[in-house]
Amino acid sequence: MLKSRHLLGLDGMEKPEIELLLNTARSFREILDRPIKRVPTLQGKTVVNLFYEPSTRTRISFELAEKRMSADIVNFSAGTSSVKKGESLIDTVKNIEAMKIDMVVVRHSSPGAAHLLSQVLDANIINAGDGGHEHPTQALLDMMTIRERFGNLAKLTIGLIGDISHSRVALSNIFGLKAMGARVLVCGPSTLIPRGIERLGVEVFHNIDEVIPQVDVLNILRLQLERQKSGLFPSLREYHNFFGITRERLERAEKPILIMHPGPMNRGLEISSHVADSEHSVILEQVTNGIALRMAVLYLLAGGKSEIH
Ligand code: CP
Repeated sequence: MLKSRHLLGLDGMEKPEIELLLNTARSFREILDRPIKRVPTLQGKTVVNLFYEPSTRTRISFELAEKRMSADIVNFSAGTSSVKKGESLIDTVKNIEAMKIDMVVVRHSSPGAAHLLSQVLDANIINAGDGGHEHPTQALLDMMTIRERFGNLAKLTIGLIGDISHSRVALSNIFGLKAMGARVLVCGPSTLIPRGIERLGVEVFHNIDEVIPQVDVLNILRLQLERQKSGLFPSLREYHNFFGITRERLERAEKPILIMHPGPMNRGLEISSHVADSEHSVILEQVTNGIALRMAVLYLLAGGKSEIH
């Protein structure tokens, strides 16, 4: 069983719990290839998907995971709700909880939003991304995808490339990968790497061509232009020239490198189209695995005790 009733982040989560989540997700992955992709596991449970920020992958993936497990689902979008009339987050969720719901999946632009809900609601809370803080299910599905290809994460070196400062995906990956014993390198312009990040056990680089020869996996992060102040790098063209992952750069590596990106991608900026669509890219496998991983999270938080067989 998981130690917490909520999944708020991977900070502090230890290897046995991550392994339980990844092993359970592997069991659920098989259901997605069945002709009838549905199990009764969450029958009678009601899940609210509470999205205050745009999302394609995470929102659809959670919704599909819930449907595959026969839960009742309510989708909430802030843009078409009474948030537009000034209703607060707390009042919104207390009203929703009064309608007798069991679980809340929340995405919000404020770091700590999921944690706040866990303090005021009885429902299980799942963080689907809180500002620049954490995105635990993305990091778990990333680890699931890497483990499928390589097995043991502890033997691997993984490079997180680009906008580390604004990336909740980066932070959750660092917590998860370090707990699993992987070597983690971060690389980007110094303006996009938080000062003191070495304290989390990662190695910092500013030259992508020094990183490429050392890694088994490159997880290329989206340049989060909407969260950045101006002037963090001279121009998009220069960013691409210094940090963009291109065929020419990868051809200099001695071995193939697994290419990952959490999406949405800025093609031609942090990643070239050739690399994104290459045989070494598992970007769409990440998306498929995301459903199985989210099924595992919902199952374990709903009280599931062991891996499915
Ligand atoms: N990776 C991810 O969180 O994508 P969305 O913003 O589309 O959910």
